[in-house]
Parts: sequence; structure tokens; C-alpha cells
Amino acid sequence: MIIASNIAEKLERSSWIRRMFEEGARLRAERGADRVFDFSLGNPEIDPPAVLGRTARRLLEADEPHRHAYMPNAGFEHVRARIAERLAAESGLPFTSGHVVMTVGAGGALNTVLKAILDPGDEVIVLAPYFVEYAFYVENHGGRMVLVETDENFRPDIARIEAALTERTRAIIVNSPNNPTGVLYDEADYAALDELVTRSGREILVISDEPYRSLVFDGVTAPSVPRHVSHAVICTSWSKTLAIPGERIGYLAISPRVPGAATLAGACTFTNRILGFVNAPALWQRVVAEIGDVTIDVRPYQEKRDLLCDELEAIGYELVRPRGAFYVFPRTPIDDVEFIGLLQKEGILAVPGRGFGRANHMRLSLTVPHATIERAIPGFEAAFRRARAGQGASPSDSTR
Ligand SMILES: Cc1ncc(COP(=O)(O)O)c(C=O)c1O
Repeated sequence: MIIASNIAEKLERSSWIRRMFEEGARLRAERGADRVFDFSLGNPEIDPPAVLGRTARRLLEADEPHRHAYMPNAGFEHVRARIAERLAAESGLPFTSGHVVMTVGAGGALNTVLKAILDPGDEVIVLAPYFVEYAFYVENHGGRMVLVETDENFRPDIARIEAALTERTRAIIVNSPNNPTGVLYDEADYAALDELVTRSGREILVISDEPYRSLVFDGVTAPSVPRHVSHAVICTSWSKTLAIPGERIGYLAISPRVPGAATLAGACTFTNRILGFVNAPALWQRVVAEIGDVTIDVRPYQEKRDLLCDELEAIGYELVRPRGAFYVFPRTPIDDVEFIGLLQKEGILAVPGRGFGRANHMRLSLTVPHATIERAIPGFEAAFRRARAGQGASPSDSTR
């Protein structure tokens, strides 16, 4: 075979979302696009704020020499300084441009930092359910992902994390607001994690993967992780908050409180280069530095969360109401893969929870029009009834 056997094996492991994509194409051909309700993808369905395009056009047309040239591998100094200013204001810590490396999205940031810290066999703790790419990112650099279950509300379970720590633990990845659960960690979660890492006496980094950080509902603000966690490294992007995942722009920021922060920043600058990213896209670095704190309007996502959660709960689904990101992760009334099959009969596409490390759940993405949710509700109800009826429960037990 032309491809490596370990990649063939990973292709197989990563196939849930791809399978849903293929299933979507099949269903659309069979029923017509307007009778298929695709809740499987986390791709923003809206356009970025208008200021983004205006700023990009203006910067592209500005008559600056060498604007398309190579630059220092960490990114433009003025862009990193602007980001450091914002981080310092949020955290109260003395962030400088030297703590920031511009990256090719949050995915690029995670790979850059993991490459800088992992020796073969080193362990990275990931809290399940989780963003599936973490497993591949850790393995890219010879590491081993150690999965630790969250509690019944999908929050970090400190005792379980403590039990998973070993001499080889190099990092714990946290992701809030979370994909796939939409759960937002609060200050107490971070304080408990910090206390654990400090008590362990080990050099463990807390990598905060936070591309959804400003997509929060109900007027809350997501806590600054470096404010509460001493050994924090932020990995993030504008992919979700500006609806520009195709532009591949993000950064990593090492807390000034990390011992050897300057050495780690230097290592990340090097790994950013040797991973072949070289530097983050020049135009988009300049754009994000200029447009400041602009984000997409979160209200439509909040409204869609309310609509979908209210309707699903009224049908009888159990769920933890998301406080951010754009996913809902309800429990399925029967085995998740079987239930996904029942939903498909209703033209609804969802991803089984086992694809994220938690069976008997499913991920529904809110990146669909409001009307799609309204039109899909009868299908969610019919599938739920059928699942319950199959288990011997009377359909009327489980419906409105
Ligand atoms: C939790 C999480 N982390 C990282 C990423 C990658 O983001 P980016 O597109 O900026 O690389 C995603 C994208 O879906 C995500 O959901």
C-alpha cells in the first residue's frame, strides 16, 4: 500500500464526520436538499462582519514594501504586541509580544506547542468528550493521549485527572466553551486544576484550546485562563469568532508565569517553522490586529440554542444546556449509532457521541438556519418515539 499503515488506521478512526458528510450527499440526492437537515458540521454558516472584508481590502491595497515577504517565524512584532496588550488587560499579567506566536489557526497552535514539549512516549491528558483531532495532534509528535472522563455535567473531574497523572504527563488540554458539549468552565474549575498541577510538583502545562472563547451566551464572560492557571498556554484562532476558518489565522500565548516562558516561546517559533507553517498568513495577521475585539453576533446562536434545547427537552431528550460554542450534545434514548440511523430516516444528520469519546450521546451543530431547526423538530420527535417504542415503552410516555 502507498500510505503508511498508521495513517490508514487513523483514517478509519477519524471517519465519523466524513461518513456523515457522505450520508448527507446520499440523502440530498434521494430526498432533495430541502428535506435534509444537516446538524453534523461545525462550519460557520454566516458571513464574517463587514468590517473584516473592508479592512482586508484596505490593507491589501496599501502601498507597503515587502508586504508579501517572509517575516520572523513568530509573526509581525506589532501584531503580537497588540495581542499581548489585550491578554495583559484580561489577565492582569505582564504579557509581551515575546509571549505570543502567530499560528495557522488553533490547530496550528496546538501542533506547534505539542511539538515543542513532547518527547516520544510523553503523555497528554484530554478530557472526554473531546475534539477528535487532539488524538492525532498528540500522536503527530510521538505523544500518547490519555483520556479522562468529565463528570455527568461534562465538567473537569479533578480526582480523575489526578489519578491519571504520571511521570510522563506533560500537558492537560482544556477546551471551553467546549466542542462537542458547549459547556463553559468557570473560575472554580480552573482554580481546582491549578491547585492540582501545583500540588503535583510536576512541570505540566495547561493548554487552553479556546477558539470559541467569545462565543458565549446569556451575557457571561469566559474567564481568562492565565489569570487562574499558572502554567497556562493559550491556543486559539479567529476561525469561529469571525467565521473565517478558511483563512487559517490564530496564535499561541505562553503565560509569563510559565517557568522558562521565553525558552518555550523560542522553541514554539522554531517548531512553527519546521512543521512547515513557517509563519501565519501575513495579510490576516494584519487584519486581526486592526479589527480588535470584533466578533460575530452570538445572539442568533443563542436563539437557536434556546429553540433546539426547549423543543428537544419537551420531547423528552436529556441534555446539558450549552453556555457557549455552537453545539448541543444530548443523550440518545438508545445506542447512539442506532439512533443516528433512526434520525437519518427522518432526513436528520447528526454525529454519534462515540466519535467524541462519549457513546449514547450525539452532537448537533447550531450552524444551521433557524428554520431548519423548526422544520427538523417533528423528525427528532418521530425518531425519539420510535426508539422508545422499540424498547417497549409506550410512545405516549416519551412525547408531548
Ligand atoms: C475545539 C477545537 N479546537 C480547535 C479547532 C481548530 O480550529 P482552527 O480552525 O482555528 O484550526 C476546532 C475546530 O473546529 C475546534 O472545534
